[in-house]
Amino acid sequence: MRLVAAAQAAVRPVLQPDDVAVDATAGNGHDTTFLAGELSSGLVYAFDIQPQAIAATAERLRRLGLVDRVKLVCAGHEQFSHHLPASHVGRVGAAMFNLGYLPGGHHDLVTRPESTMAALRSLETWLRPGGIVTIVAYRGHAGGELETLAVRQWVCSLPTSWERSEIASAGRQKPGPVLFVARKAI
Ligand SMILES: C[S@@+](CC[C@H](N)C(=O)[O-])C[C@H]1O[C@@H](n2cnc3c(N)ncnc32)[C@H](O)[C@@H]1O
Repeated sequence: MRLVAAAQAAVRPVLQPDDVAVDATAGNGHDTTFLAGELSSGLVYAFDIQPQAIAATAERLRRLGLVDRVKLVCAGHEQFSHHLPASHVGRVGAAMFNLGYLPGGHHDLVTRPESTMAALRSLETWLRPGGIVTIVAYRGHAGGELETLAVRQWVCSLPTSWERSEIASAGRQKPGPVLFVARKAI
C-alpha cells in the first residue's frame, strides 16, 4: 500500500462524522477530499501556501460535491491556530501532513522543518483525546532528510501515553518516504 493510502487507512477508523479535521498540506486536494468524505456535520480546514494548490483543491471538492464541508486557507499550516476558532481547541479528530513539494510544482515551495514543527507542536493541544496525526515525509529532496529527522524527534518527544508508529515505504525509491502516525491518548 502506498504511504498516502496507509495514512488515510489510519485516519478512517478514528475520524468521527462531527469532528474537525485539518489537511495541513492541501496540494492537489487528495487528503482534503478524503477527510471531507468521511465527515457529515464536521468541518475540514485545508491549508496551503500556494494559490494554485488551493484552486486545485477547490476544483476537486466542487466536482465531488464536498465544498460545504471544507474551509480552504491560503496560508502556512504554522498559522493554523489563527484560522480555527478557539472553540475547536480539543476538537480536532485528525490532522494530515503530506510534506515536500507539490507534484509538478516548483521545488522551492516546499515544506520546511521549522514551520512543520510549529504546526505539529500546536496540534498537541488542538487534538481531541484519541485524535490522530499522520505525516508522510520525503527524504529525497534538499532538506527532506532533516525534516524527516525533525518529525521523528517530535514523535519521540510525545508523552508515552500517545500511540505512535513509523512505516518506511517498501517501494524502490531510495531514500524512500516515511509515514509517521501519532494518536493522542483517549
Ligand atoms: C506533497 S504536496 C501535498 C499533496 C497533497 N496532500 C495532495 O493530496 O495532493 C505538499 C504541499 O505542501 C505545501 N506547503 C509547503 N509549505 C507549506 C506550509 N508551510 N503550510 C502549508 N502548506 C505548505 C506545498 O505548497 C504543497 O502543495
